[in-house]
Amino acid sequence: METIIQKITQDSLALAKSILLQGGAVAFPTETVYGLGADARSDEAVENIYRIKGRPQDNPLIVHVHCGYDLNSLVYDDKPYAAVLREKFLPGPLTLVYRSRGIVSKKVSCGLDTLAIRVPSHPGAQEFLRYVDLPVAAPSANISKHVSPVSAEHVYSDLNGRISLILDGGACSGGIESTVCDVTGDYPVILRQGLVSREMIESAVGKCGVYVPKAGEQVRSPGMKYKHYAPKCETRLFDDPKAALKEFDSLQAQGRRVYVLCESKYAKMFAAEYVLDLGASPEEMAARLYSLLRQGEKVADVIVAIRPKESDGVMAGVLNRLSKACAGE
Ligand code: TXA
Ligand code: MG
Repeated sequence: METIIQKITQDSLALAKSILLQGGAVAFPTETVYGLGADARSDEAVENIYRIKGRPQDNPLIVHVHCGYDLNSLVYDDKPYAAVLREKFLPGPLTLVYRSRGIVSKKVSCGLDTLAIRVPSHPGAQEFLRYVDLPVAAPSANISKHVSPVSAEHVYSDLNGRISLILDGGACSGGIESTVCDVTGDYPVILRQGLVSREMIESAVGKCGVYVPKAGEQVRSPGMKYKHYAPKCETRLFDDPKAALKEFDSLQAQGRRVYVLCESKYAKMFAAEYVLDLGASPEEMAARLYSLLRQGEKVADVIVAIRPKESDGVMAGVLNRLSKACAGE
């Protein structure tokens, strides 16, 4: 199968719609990462997504809709605080997990009685979703367990030959996946941290939990149990910048190609040509992390990463992805 990359135009949208209506999958931009979308109503289309990505069959998908879509047709939207979150954060990088009405394919939620809904703010995503006017099931458009794609070129390098169309909406500004938040209980509970932080949700509705799976418990967001976001080279994660420098020097002395991934403030400890600079603010680090991991895996045998010390707000999401990327085998 030939894979083409096209800017978002009436012609490419018409092509995208015809692919979706035939049960195929199309990659499209969002403000977080690129998605691989298919018709959420069709078992065959949803199965296609799992097959293309090599994704485990028990890791449910998020359904994407445009701003004007009636959520009530898909889920039981019965919690007043969920309406506040929607009003405040959507469209945007917040996915809400509701009780499902069972309208879309059962394969979307892998048999769970809930459904995750996302209304992305990227103008190209909205154009695409409005044009097709379908509930679009979409995971990130990478091969399962690899780093999520934040440009059309990243999607191409993972899925070339496996899909026919990538809609190109430029680089993703957010850079890490949406916050996933369960809104079925008495108060919201974050299942995956992201650009809408716990603090932001608390300030909107007063209370917000963060789900931490207990040992042996069946996880509520099945994606959490898998290795994720990993570059193809070795990685080593350090809390202490001096220990990272020692490791860097020692690896270099062994003739390994070693790069360092760190905040700007530590960059000057290393030779500039070997630095993958995350920047300074949490938002900047989120926006750069996946690009730098993908850049790093092309040139490095080993990436030595220094874990930022700050851990509140958006930084919680960045640390979660960085830890998973460096989690080893
Ligand atoms: O920003 C994003 O969310 C991107 C873009 C493409 O929208 N999508 C994305 O999808 O990251 P994916 O499939 O890579 O991650 C979906 C996450 C997984 O951790 C999955 O377990 C969780 O959402 N999830 C989906 N449906 C769920 C449900 N019904 N209950 C609990 N967790 C759910
Ligand atoms: Mg993913």
